[in-house]
Amino acid sequence: MSSVLINRVIQTTLIDTWRGLADTAPGLSLIAFGQVETLIPCWEERDSNRGANLWKKPASCGQIEYPAPMRDTDKSILITGCSSGIGLCVATGLQQRGYRVFASARKTEDVETLRNLGLQTVQLDLTDSDSIDRAVANVLEKTQGRLFGLFNNGAYGLPGAVEDISRDAMRELFETNLFGWHELTNKVIPLMRNQGAGRIIQNSSVLGLTTLPFRGAYAASKYALEGLTDTLRLELFGSGIHVSLIEPGPIHSQFRANAHRMWKRHVDAEQSFFREHYAAMVQRLEKTGPGNRFTLPPEAVLKRVVHALEHPRPKPRYYVTFPTYLLGTLRRLLPTSTMDKILLKISDGGGR
Ligand SMILES: NC(=O)c1ccc[n+]([C@@H]2O[C@H](COP(=O)([O-])OP(=O)(O)OC[C@H]3O[C@@H](n4cnc5c(N)ncnc54)[C@H](OP(=O)(O)O)[C@@H]3O)[C@@H](O)[C@H]2O)c1
Repeated sequence: MSSVLINRVIQTTLIDTWRGLADTAPGLSLIAFGQVETLIPCWEERDSNRGANLWKKPASCGQIEYPAPMRDTDKSILITGCSSGIGLCVATGLQQRGYRVFASARKTEDVETLRNLGLQTVQLDLTDSDSIDRAVANVLEKTQGRLFGLFNNGAYGLPGAVEDISRDAMRELFETNLFGWHELTNKVIPLMRNQGAGRIIQNSSVLGLTTLPFRGAYAASKYALEGLTDTLRLELFGSGIHVSLIEPGPIHSQFRANAHRMWKRHVDAEQSFFREHYAAMVQRLEKTGPGNRFTLPPEAVLKRVVHALEHPRPKPRYYVTFPTYLLGTLRRLLPTSTMDKILLKISDGGGR
């Protein structure tokens, strides 16, 4: 390997790790190889709200500082899964930034709540093709057939050993986490092609880059999303439509509670070889508040979504949280067998 290449690898590793550290260390600015990056601007708020259920406080979302707020009211965006967590935060944050946000949720009561927050809303269930059709038609009717952005976000986790996940449970998860996203995206690509512009943002995960024990079903859906999105980016090259993946690690939301609910529905713990591991896992799932010290509020994702929407050359991938920078970098450098040892260690053999 040439020394230029070795230098490049070392630089990439250092930059990635520093960015990850910056994600974790409040209030810092980072100077790396001539680049100055202003870091997550929501630190004070995050610290003062540490442990609080930020997803319940949409009014507190969106307080990020960027050079010039959006003025163009024609910049409409459709977002899926806005009943809680990242979707809710991104919807309210973008609306405060001047976007025409169409916040969608699958349950009518959540649609109503979103409307009461002053958002434009549509009902959209990713498992239901008719619902996707209706939602897109509804939005396009209000925007005279235009749509600038799509933030694919609605999804859920299903923890459990691969051998404990049935075909039906796997199919159900893929219907939401992948097939619904694919169908919805295909509905908006033709109109974005006509416009000659558009931004498609896929909320993937660190578990789309590398996996952990008991995350097989979810990781499979995110790995599949990564493949689909990388292909889409190539196929849309030169069309004016940009496609970006967001790769969050732990983010404070309803994700764990919803994953726990799905686990109870689909996994027969008593009959499992892993029943003792599940006891430890359930304790983790039942924990309220941030999952671990690297957990960030959903504003950390909002910041990347804003960049992906507004930068003339959005990135293909946005890492969020220190675990993503670390694991995303290590998996590019280490052999699989070494990576496996690290993943088993950090997951405590699967209990974490
Ligand atoms: N939180 C994390 O640590 C984390 C890390 C990496 C990636 N992510 C990704 O971030 C995205 C948002 O998750 P979150 O953390 O904000 O979790 P969340 O609070 O559980 O939000 C998930 C959203 O997806 C919606 N959803 C589920 N099934 C749906 C369906 N069939 N049709 C439409 N919407 C559906 C949920 O609606 P209901 O309320 O109706 O169920 C909810 O609004 C997901 O893609 C997730 O994979 C999260």
